[in-house]
Amino acid sequence: MADGSSETKSSNQMWGGRFASGPDAIMEEINASIGFDKKLYAQDIRGSIAHATMLAQQGIISAEDKDKIVHGLNTILSEIESGSFEFSRRLEDIHMNIEARLAALIGPPAGRLHTARSRNDQVALDFRLWVKEELQKTEKALTTLIAAFLDRAEEHAETVMPGFTHLQTAQPVTFGHHCMAYVEMFGRDRARVRHAIEHMDESPIGAAALAGTGFPIDRHMTARALGFREPTRNSIDTVSDRDFALEFLSIAAIAATHLSRLAEEIVIWSTPQFGFIRLSDAFSTGSSIMPQKKNPDAAELVRAKTGRINGSLIALLTVMKGLPLAYSKDMQEDKEQVFDTAESLELAVAAMTGMVRDMTIRADRMKAAAGSGYSTATDLADWLVREAGLPFRDAHHVTGRAVALAEEKGCELADLALADLQAINPAITDKVYDVLTVEASVASRTSFGGTAPAEVRKQIAWWRTRN
Ligand code: ARG
Repeated sequence: MADGSSETKSSNQMWGGRFASGPDAIMEEINASIGFDKKLYAQDIRGSIAHATMLAQQGIISAEDKDKIVHGLNTILSEIESGSFEFSRRLEDIHMNIEARLAALIGPPAGRLHTARSRNDQVALDFRLWVKEELQKTEKALTTLIAAFLDRAEEHAETVMPGFTHLQTAQPVTFGHHCMAYVEMFGRDRARVRHAIEHMDESPIGAAALAGTGFPIDRHMTARALGFREPTRNSIDTVSDRDFALEFLSIAAIAATHLSRLAEEIVIWSTPQFGFIRLSDAFSTGSSIMPQKKNPDAAELVRAKTGRINGSLIALLTVMKGLPLAYSKDMQEDKEQVFDTAESLELAVAAMTGMVRDMTIRADRMKAAAGSGYSTATDLADWLVREAGLPFRDAHHVTGRAVALAEEKGCELADLALADLQAINPAITDKVYDVLTVEASVASRTSFGGTAPAEVRKQIAWWRTRN
């Protein structure tokens, strides 16, 4: 601490009343959270200012003491932000570091701040405020990513590419349609973020250690001052609950899973073998030995971030599993996972947004690939159903024979001679060639949510009004 006095091996000045001596060095090391929870300093100070203001309003502390406390806390805020604040591991965590400094700055009134409060509701408040702000940032970041996809989808509503199942060419789709699939995924992630903000929008402060308090506090006032919709309703649950952190981590894990699938596609698409896209120099790297290489490192790292984010979710679920009510020190292990996930997710979304905006779409390569691999076989089968009245199963069989013939001849379906097709089924006419091109194929998929350019444009318009 800046006052220096707390570095001697005496009992803790915050809770040391019944302790004759200080902690063993190992105890101090395992107990301290200041190394990571200092990240909560701004939330801690905001919470304390709201609490002190409420205590004064309720006549629990004097207005003069409140003024000194608020002034002292603001001084501490600037000390921390300017880097002059000295954090002490002996003072365990951010709450006691700030309170000890307040005592050094303003003397006895500092001791009144903790009236009707415990570190249990204090940490629940600080962490909740932090996670709420992070969720708000995530919502914005996802909105930016969705906007980048909407622009690319609009630009490429007519660009034909192969659609895949089992990573085998299945049917032609448009690149715009494929982009819009990601819009749906990230749109769901964002909806989950919004729900989570709604769930967690309750103020924990005033639950005290676990039972509430006999002081005439006004929890609605602190809730309002801190931007929460209302106070939490059960003081025991309030200090036991880390659902907001678990929800953040599970939302992040699902979003990271989506990002990893996109990352994987970018890696595949940018290979010379596929050549569907070219990544910008800004989002790729070279090789130190192979001069020809351009590696999709950013996409690979996004793909990998999913591992640590999923790990964080499992870690916190495991910490919380089987914990008796109410607070246990286990819960101090909730923060690092969340901080790490927040940083990883922010980076991953930002990198992906950049890649999506910057990548060059190689429409010629996409179209060539879309036309190979008998991707319009379903169109031939559908034509036989529609124009020749065949049951779909028979049409499927006839088409299978046409594909086998094309394979034998080493050509595409559209290159088969009419006579050859008629030998398989005499009902086939030269009108069939109209549906065998990839453009005709995608244009025909006009069902709601289908790949026809007109349909994709409708979906883009729908999302534009919601983004
Ligand atoms: N550093 C603690 C945490 O992060 C603060 C709460 C401590 N409460 C207690 N009763 N020891 O959870």
